[in-house]
Amino acid sequence: MKIDVLLSPHNVDELYFTAKTTVIIDVLRATTTIATALEAGAKEIIPVGSLDFAMKISGAAAGGQTLLCGERNINMIEGFSHGNSPLEYKDENIEGKSIIFFTTNGSKAIVKAKFSENLFLASFNNLDAIVNYLIKLDKDFNIVCSASEGVFCVEDTVCAGKIVSEVLNKKPKCEITDASKAAIVLYEFFGKDLLKMLSECEHGKKLAAKGFSEDIEYCAKLNSNNIIPYFENGSIKAIKEEEK
Ligand code: MLT
Repeated sequence: MKIDVLLSPHNVDELYFTAKTTVIIDVLRATTTIATALEAGAKEIIPVGSLDFAMKISGAAAGGQTLLCGERNINMIEGFSHGNSPLEYKDENIEGKSIIFFTTNGSKAIVKAKFSENLFLASFNNLDAIVNYLIKLDKDFNIVCSASEGVFCVEDTVCAGKIVSEVLNKKPKCEITDASKAAIVLYEFFGKDLLKMLSECEHGKKLAAKGFSEDIEYCAKLNSNNIIPYFENGSIKAIKEEEK
């Protein structure tokens, strides 16, 4: 098994992911929010790469079982029903819904990797569930840090480093790239206190400044759910217990 880490999705095009197994990370907050919505019983999450496309497909969606959700500059987009705070996706009105989902980095990274053979979403909340499933799958995989509009972000890379480190603990013969080694070093340095790391990182400070400090505490929780979000045929669903 070979493991690579992409520090940003901006360095590759969509075809790069063809036939690959990919894990997308956007700790603050998209991949954390998606797993939370699936845990609350959402039927599916439909990630989109642009606001126009979100509006277009929401127009076609009839029958009230579809929600238009997402953020721009951290805040909920006007006219949408939900923003990108995971705390908004914990109540009963999420159950059974199809969620059209647009965010600045996370949803775009997922759409970019849509040609992957296998496409999973990870965060600190579901980290062990993802690690155990990747080990069971026993395929080479690449981790994509959603980053911040192409610019490196520490939180996604620390999460990637923890995943690589956990897989290596269970499969020491894995081959890892230099980017994976660098991610492990960042995890070993910053991973001792995830809440401190998330509170002090650039995006964490922006979230706190806009009143989303509770989101940071939520996103720092390690293994608080065992949801495995899996992208297939244009939408993300949770892998069923019996398939794990
Ligand atoms: C993103 O996808 O860029 C982030 O999740 C933005 C946010 O914090 O809402």
